[in-house]
Amino acid sequence: MTDTGRWVSHNVAGISISAIKEMAMRSARIEGAASLTWGLPSFRTPEHIRGAVARALVDDPEIGKYALPDGLPQMRRLAAQDYVAATGIAVDPDRNVIITAGNMQGLNALFHTLIDPGDQIIVTDPGFASHFQQIRLCGGEPLYWAMDEARGWALDPEALTGLISKRTKAIVIVSPSNPTGKIFSEAELRRVGEIAREAGLFVLIDDPYSHFTYEHRDRYFNLASVGDLANQLAYLFTFSKTYAMSGWRLGYVVLPESLKREVLKVHDATLICTPRISQVAGIAALTEPATHLGEFEAVLARRRELICARLDAVPHVFSYVKPEGAYYVFPRVLVEHENSVEFAIRLLEQAKVTVTPGSAFGPTGEHHVRMAYCVDEATIELAFDRIEKQFPA
Ligand SMILES: Cc1ncc(COP(=O)(O)O)c(C=O)c1O
Repeated sequence: MTDTGRWVSHNVAGISISAIKEMAMRSARIEGAASLTWGLPSFRTPEHIRGAVARALVDDPEIGKYALPDGLPQMRRLAAQDYVAATGIAVDPDRNVIITAGNMQGLNALFHTLIDPGDQIIVTDPGFASHFQQIRLCGGEPLYWAMDEARGWALDPEALTGLISKRTKAIVIVSPSNPTGKIFSEAELRRVGEIAREAGLFVLIDDPYSHFTYEHRDRYFNLASVGDLANQLAYLFTFSKTYAMSGWRLGYVVLPESLKREVLKVHDATLICTPRISQVAGIAALTEPATHLGEFEAVLARRRELICARLDAVPHVFSYVKPEGAYYVFPRVLVEHENSVEFAIRLLEQAKVTVTPGSAFGPTGEHHVRMAYCVDEATIELAFDRIEKQFPA
């Protein structure tokens, strides 16, 4: 085989494929593995969305064509309405909205727009592994802001101030958190907003999970609803989880007008536009009431109770903080192990259970694993039957 290393850029050589997908690929090679690694809900895209696309495929002569780079006007109007409903802040579909191929693509365009080599972006630690890789891919540096497990993985705004330097450009927030399931409090988030304003930091809100807050709905607070931050904040919503549309690759970004022009350069240079067919699906999603959500949440709430009950039964293997939202739990590994990667690989090879090593989510994640409980109940049961057998009490 030819050594292709000399052609690979430093930026690409310096990143790795996310441990989530790495474990998913390893898991696929092991027959019958019970996988809790990937946050891929078991739900099907709601019928009315699939129906609208099926009709458009037959009736809409434009369906196979490019859209304008920032998205179909109707989709942008609906996205702006959705944003007002979520935040109470009015935005202009032409000036402030771009339709993206999901939050990963939206964030990629934003990071390319914001980052010069050596710039730092603050990320929560633990936080979403792919953010770190995206920041590095742009020549930036993720600056880890450690969360406190003893306080249930809450934010520590006062520790934030000490991290900020001239090289720090922006901060990324995900609430409910992936991987801890923590819903950050309104007071903490408002303080983060104040610190960002004082320090001139740009704020990125990556929002896949705000519709999965269970009994804590009243505690969920969207930092994008703070009007004072409108000129230094981008809010990214993805349809992947809320509408079970992960394969459609669809999201929207709301951002300041002057930044939209810059981000569109990256979006156009890399994607041209978000696939029109997915935008047609998005129009159907935002037009009809989201009646499926009650059921999604009820099913996920049951699975959360199940996984917590199974974790409670193996206190010699894991300790954990009960997740409040999203559909992840991030237990600490108590049995003997070298590190979370070694533990995860051993668990897969010896017990046929797939989890994601916690170190992928930042230094504070070491000695933890992430389990996604969006999979069906039978998989959760099987995984824990095997864990109990592997580590008898
Ligand atoms: C925090 C976070 N951001 C982004 C994504 C990916 O979103 P999308 O499918 O819209 O690219 C995920 C998926 O798990 C996520 O957890």
